[in-house]
Amino acid sequence: MTSSVPSLPTLTGEKVTLRAWRRSDTAIVVEASQDPLIPQLTSVPTNSDELAALAFIERQHKRLHDRAGYAFAIADHDDIAVGHIGLFFIPGGSGRASAGYWIASSRRRQGLARDALTTLTSWAITLEELDRVELYVEPWNEGSWRVTEQAGYEREGLLRAWKQVGGQPRDMYMYSRLTRRASVADVCGD
Ligand SMILES: CC(C)(COP(=O)(O)OP(=O)(O)OC[C@H]1O[C@@H](n2cnc3c(N)ncnc32)[C@H](O)[C@@H]1OP(=O)(O)O)[C@@H](O)C(=O)NCCC(=O)NCCS
Repeated sequence: MTSSVPSLPTLTGEKVTLRAWRRSDTAIVVEASQDPLIPQLTSVPTNSDELAALAFIERQHKRLHDRAGYAFAIADHDDIAVGHIGLFFIPGGSGRASAGYWIASSRRRQGLARDALTTLTSWAITLEELDRVELYVEPWNEGSWRVTEQAGYEREGLLRAWKQVGGQPRDMYMYSRLTRRASVADVCGD
């Protein structure tokens, strides 16, 4: 018997709403595809046209069907997509998931990433199947580690050659937040 596919919630923050990607959101994917960093870190193809942007949007829906994780568009007060954020399960029943995000360059430095990660995390830490949410950030990426720290994540150390970016091994800071389930187990000494 197959269990039903989970549904994607809509999560409301102070500045942004996290909602499902729509076919009408292609403009922001096209913009992100011209960013020097986003295509190296994510599945946004470099210099996407409309069709490639639509394919990216389709892939985000598929993540939920494949139970790989939850992928949200970050939408502003006018419901315009400005970026992407996701919670991706680490396979093997580990009780761990990683988060990742980007904001298109024209919409940065407005507190949108901070609000998006805070909103995602408030929901993620209530998920029964998770113990911790992880984030991997390159040391030079101050904007990203500031976002992470402002959303309540703790830096645990430097992971050497943890991930490849642009085909090269890169060191990453490991950040985490424990979920409610793990925090309760910790207090009780389970
Ligand atoms: C990193 C990124 C998501 C930040 O998005 P953003 O919406 O501009 O971030 P916010 O406006 O929420 O900023 C949060 C804090 O970080 C600071 N910050 C943001 N970008 C910064 C930068 N480039 N350098 C230094 N500080 C920065 C802000 O000033 C703010 O701190 P403050 O409240 O003390 O002023 C965005 O630059 C991005 O998408 N970069 C490319 C993809 C990427 O790096 N993703 C993360 C991979 S780990």
